[in-house]
Amino acid sequence: MMRTHTCGELRKENIGVRVRLCGWVDTVRDHGGVIFIDLRDRYGLTQVIFDPRDSQEAWDLSQTTRGEYVIQVEGDVEARPPEMENEKLATGAIEVRCDRIQILNKSLTPPFPLDDKGVSEDLRLTYRYLDLRRPQMQEHMRKRHEITQAVRRYLDQHQFTEVETPILTKSTPEGARDYLVPSRVAPGAFYALPQAPQQYKQLLMVAGSDRYYQIARCFRDEDLRADRQPEFTQIDVEMSFITREDIYEVIDGLCAEVMQISGHGNITLPIARLSYEDAMNRFGTDRPDMRFGMELVELSEVFRDTGFNVFKKVLEAGGVVKAFNARGLGAVPIRVMDEWTGLAQEAGLGGLAYIRVQEDGTWKSPIVKFFSDREQAELKETLDIRPGDLILFAADKRPVADGALGRLRLLAGRAAGAIPENKYSFVWVTDFPLFMRDEEGRLQSMHHPFTSPHPEDMDKLESDPLSVRALAYDIVLNGVELGGGSIRIHDPDLQKRIFHLLGIPKEEAEDRFGHLTRALAYGAPPHGGIALGIDRVVMMMIGGRTIRDVIAFPKTQKAMDLMMGAPAPVDDRQLKDVHLKLTRPRGGEEKKPVDE
Ligand code: AMO
Ligand code: AMP
Repeated sequence: MMRTHTCGELRKENIGVRVRLCGWVDTVRDHGGVIFIDLRDRYGLTQVIFDPRDSQEAWDLSQTTRGEYVIQVEGDVEARPPEMENEKLATGAIEVRCDRIQILNKSLTPPFPLDDKGVSEDLRLTYRYLDLRRPQMQEHMRKRHEITQAVRRYLDQHQFTEVETPILTKSTPEGARDYLVPSRVAPGAFYALPQAPQQYKQLLMVAGSDRYYQIARCFRDEDLRADRQPEFTQIDVEMSFITREDIYEVIDGLCAEVMQISGHGNITLPIARLSYEDAMNRFGTDRPDMRFGMELVELSEVFRDTGFNVFKKVLEAGGVVKAFNARGLGAVPIRVMDEWTGLAQEAGLGGLAYIRVQEDGTWKSPIVKFFSDREQAELKETLDIRPGDLILFAADKRPVADGALGRLRLLAGRAAGAIPENKYSFVWVTDFPLFMRDEEGRLQSMHHPFTSPHPEDMDKLESDPLSVRALAYDIVLNGVELGGGSIRIHDPDLQKRIFHLLGIPKEEAEDRFGHLTRALAYGAPPHGGIALGIDRVVMMMIGGRTIRDVIAFPKTQKAMDLMMGAPAPVDDRQLKDVHLKLTRPRGGEEKKPVDE
């Protein structure tokens, strides 16, 4: 037996027992000739001591150990002297007096001290196996495992069957670029890695699976952010013979379970719901952070015949005037207001009008002089203006005004300390629009082209497509989109009609989606589903700020695996095998992707 106990296991009850432990040397200290080693493994830390009076030979060897050496020790569990007990450490009541030690493996000096929090992320990712030794990262991996297990258990109890779907597949339209894999046996043809198992899970419904789930790897070549990785994992769910209510119920329960298992207690069910329209109107975003107020208010009516030119012009052009009350930020310095004005302009606003309400109630603002007495009175009433408030105005086309104020609301909430840290506010955002316009003005699916239009809006599909709502929903937690899904189209003719509306020529539709429309024609049941990004779920549960902290081997912002050195050039023979010729010479890491 290599070890009798782990390094997190020994307690007062074990005093007097002879034990054998294995682990990494966390620290070595010499206290007047006695060597103290903190021995570490995944389970914890145990203090072991070597005294030359117990064994000269063991003591000699213990002196040669360094940080991250792998050792095996043997000795007797003793009580620590009372003044040396460490309540913060699970094993802090005991230590192990050792008379044997074996060095199982040496270690080079690590490139960074494992307990240093200031290490650059690139260095951590290059030596991820060392980074992962840190107790906090071990804890993250453990939490992720527990949440994944709980999800599996929950879905199993609710009659879901886990089915694996292919990784080498065909391009799917989830809105990002595909990762492509060239085929050796079919020259010039490519597999695409799945952006999501969307079509497979729908095909499984046609196949009669009824309730499917998968902890599914997804691949998207898109610009990365703190909550986006090129490969990530979804809790992917699909159900037959259901309405949206069934999805809400299953996922409500799942969220409650995940909160429970993560130690955050019970949440009130059902989870609140908000239409997309209300979310945009009240919070300026489709992923509202509901932990605090500062809701946006429309003031177009108040300023209907205003003398303030900026508002007047916008209203005449069919735009809106909106504002919110950033309670308590009236004393915010001009420097911050300049910064926020810059952000508002980035978001498309011409400028940012504001009123800083002084403690004596007077309004400090470059624009108030343009407001009539009635306008001022109505403003005061509508926005419940009190001393010390800051009012931020946006005048523009509705989506621009909403978007800008939505971003400012988050900044203001943070600046005012109005966002409670330990609160978890889930919300369903429902009734998304079916379509949006892309940069070239073409219709594009807001979710994906398999999403069912709202039955009430079916007759507007051709005449007024942008006003058509979808049976689509997102689940949002504290301003983060955890997941999204929809009721699907199960009628092959409607599916073809949508492809047509999206401007996909018949042949291309057949080429790309013929497998799906054909399958729908063989008795597809009504069905729908959802996918939750498990990386984001775990990130939220541990209170993390990036999903990189909950992924064992994440990629950098440039989609590189610094530890493995991927992506990497391949040799000419491999290229030849897959019938590829490079149009640019091989470069180093900074080489731009070939996009001609
Ligand atoms: P969607 O594209 O909304 O829907 O993705 C669902 C959820 O997956 C997570 N996610 C990501 N997580 C990390 N990195 C990424 N790059 C990334 N992209 C998405 C998010 C998101 O809410 N097939 C549909 C689902 C369905 O209709 O059932 C889909 O993939 O948490
Ligand atoms: P101007 O007449 O451009 O000097 O603007 C007068 C005030 O209105 C300034 O405080 C601007 O920041 C602000 N402002 C300008 N455009 C907008 C807009 N679209 N929405 C809100 N405030 C604006």
